[in-house]
Amino acid sequence: MNPEVRSLFPGARQQVYFDVAARGLVPDPVREAVEAHLHLRQTRGGDKDTLRAGVERARAGFARLVNAAPDEVALTKNVSEGLNLFAASLPWEPGDNVVVCPALEHPNNIYLWYNLRARRGIEVRAVPAREGHLPIAAMAAAMDDRTRVVTLPSVSFAPGFVSDVAAVAGAAREAGALTLVDAAQSIGALRTDVRALGVDALAVATQKCMLGLYGTGFLYVRREVADRLLPIHVARYGIDLDGAHETAFSEGELRYRPGALRFDLGNYNYLGVAAAGAALDLLLGWDVEAVETHLRGLATRLAAGLLEQGLPVAGGPPGPHLAHIVSVGQSGGGRHYTAEDPAMNALHAHLVAEGIQHSIRSGVLRFSVGVYNDARDVDRLLAATGAWVREAGYGG
Ligand SMILES: Cc1ncc(COP(=O)(O)O)c(C=O)c1O
Repeated sequence: MNPEVRSLFPGARQQVYFDVAARGLVPDPVREAVEAHLHLRQTRGGDKDTLRAGVERARAGFARLVNAAPDEVALTKNVSEGLNLFAASLPWEPGDNVVVCPALEHPNNIYLWYNLRARRGIEVRAVPAREGHLPIAAMAAAMDDRTRVVTLPSVSFAPGFVSDVAAVAGAAREAGALTLVDAAQSIGALRTDVRALGVDALAVATQKCMLGLYGTGFLYVRREVADRLLPIHVARYGIDLDGAHETAFSEGELRYRPGALRFDLGNYNYLGVAAAGAALDLLLGWDVEAVETHLRGLATRLAAGLLEQGLPVAGGPPGPHLAHIVSVGQSGGGRHYTAEDPAMNALHAHLVAEGIQHSIRSGVLRFSVGVYNDARDVDRLLAATGAWVREAGYGG
């Protein structure tokens, strides 16, 4: 990316920030949009039609980002709300099943399935991971004519490998099942075309690679699928009022808005929407393909450098599994804040002391590259890991 992109992110100058997989840095134009929204609310109150026009602008931008139509996009507050709205609105019968690989899922794409097991009698078919990779053949083998949904992360939160979404969606289609993607870690980082991938639903929030705030996200549902669903929750913005004022209520049969619009509920997070609007202007202006090339290039440089120092990079040498997340250590061990390997905890402490922002997730040190990072950041990180390897005598 050109250096002007980095200059939009004051936080990128103040530290070495490799933590977009937890939350990204917010750029100046997003902060300015948030301030303008607050100023409007403080001084004028804010006019509802204008606020809702902002919602529709964001919806159109979200849709463009994944090659969907605006009426295939519902606004949500986070990933788990999108996943739950979709999953709980399906016409489950007892004995239907979902196929999932829990070891690679964030807990927010696990709880809901066990909740549906308790509430609706569904079966959860949990398939083990294949050394941090999505077990595509095993997931396909677990599908049968009672499989309603197959769910997967587009990029796992740890160790952060890219999933072959199209392959899973193809297998699901053959089994007559729907594909639901947790895209928390990929939208805004990787070019995404829901039509080319063949997915039926996808959920994301804006605080990671989408340059926005917590509390705003979207749920994509393919139009033909959404039109058949009875939403688990409804409120005025999901109901077709035939042009009447939003406070109108007409008795009789509920008419849902077309497609995914039926999943919109009450008032929106207008502040988060203002942030998302400014963020979408940036992302769409840069072109996500250029962002992806930038992130993959830096991640490749980082993974290769860490391997050269003898560190255990998850997944080994850079390959198609590698997008913007590089993990070090034994994936699957430990939990969120510590690794099982004491050496990895020592390396983590060293990097924290050096001011290098990153996370531990599922037992690995997770470095995640954002659009604001550059080669100097990678080299600073490699200098810090290299110094630790020498001082600790790691691998020697
Ligand atoms: C893959 C994945 N899914 C979901 C979440 C979070 O879900 P929510 O936005 O509902 O808090 C995260 C991280 O925060 C994640 O990495």
